[in-house]
Amino acid sequence: MKNKIEELLNEIETFAAESKEHVEEFRIKILSKKGKLTELFDEFKTVAPELKKEIGQKLNELRNKAQEKVQELKEKYESSDEINIEQDLTLPAESIAIGSRHPLSLVRNQIIDIFSRIGFTVSDGPEIEDDWHNFTALNTPADHPARDMQDTFYISENPDIVLRTQTSSVQVHIMENSKPPIRTISPGRVYRNEAISARAHCQFHQVEGLYIDKGVSFADLKQALLYFSKEMFGEETKIRLRPSFFPFTEISAEMDISCPFCKGDGCNICKGAGWVEILGCGMVDPAVLENCKIDSKVYSGFAFGMGIERITMLKYQVKDLRLFFENDVRFLKQFKPVI
Ligand code: DAH
Repeated sequence: MKNKIEELLNEIETFAAESKEHVEEFRIKILSKKGKLTELFDEFKTVAPELKKEIGQKLNELRNKAQEKVQELKEKYESSDEINIEQDLTLPAESIAIGSRHPLSLVRNQIIDIFSRIGFTVSDGPEIEDDWHNFTALNTPADHPARDMQDTFYISENPDIVLRTQTSSVQVHIMENSKPPIRTISPGRVYRNEAISARAHCQFHQVEGLYIDKGVSFADLKQALLYFSKEMFGEETKIRLRPSFFPFTEISAEMDISCPFCKGDGCNICKGAGWVEILGCGMVDPAVLENCKIDSKVYSGFAFGMGIERITMLKYQVKDLRLFFENDVRFLKQFKPVI
């Protein structure tokens, strides 16, 4: 048995591999279940008890040697594999696809950027709202059509809880929780029970604007919106305000911009009108200020609300609102990445 151990030790020590495959053959020959080492261990069972200690030690040493040798050879061939690959280290690195921002995020960020330049902060409110913040505090009467089940998603267990239908609800939170002067915009998602089409969706995004202070007038509103429109759509952009109605503003208006495509001459985007509507606005109704514990005799303010999808569609000529929610990379990658 001692001789056999010596022989195998010799074989292991003198083995010179020629390839990776050769190393693997060697491993199988020596270390596998049917290998020479296993045979020796089987034979060990028949060794006389007084020799067991000595031979056992030798066998263990032999096994360690074999394992070390195989490991060493394997490493050698693996690292030489890497070196063998022909590499031109001067080649430029492969470019990494970093993705791009969603068009709605691009436009939301631009809106935030524009208003922050004239002193507006950004604020946030919950998407799951109570009736008070979404409707009642905003002076919306109990029989107003917007409260209709067809327009609003109510939580079935509790009709007091709704998915907010407008970011105007954030106005109420802000006025309840802070003191004037207030100058803030609130971007966020809103929900309406609408059939999905190219022009309507059950979820979309709005930005609410709110400015409350002593002596705020309609002229301030006009000027802020003119500044926004020129920054967003270009210096030559004109605005016009048309009388309208919203429960939470008095007086109320809808604002159009001169069509950014035909510059007012009339085209298929503005349907020949030369103007396109982009937002609703007005002076905050004194009743809303009082609902939020702001003294309407001391303070006044303006508010406005616009749809981010609408602005984005106009800016990038997107014709179908559904594209924003489908996450089709072919659509999304057309918008410039912001690094
Ligand atoms: N909340 C309105 C809507 O969803 C938009 C709006 C209009 C917001 C006038 C305002 C406003 O703050 O003054 O259609």
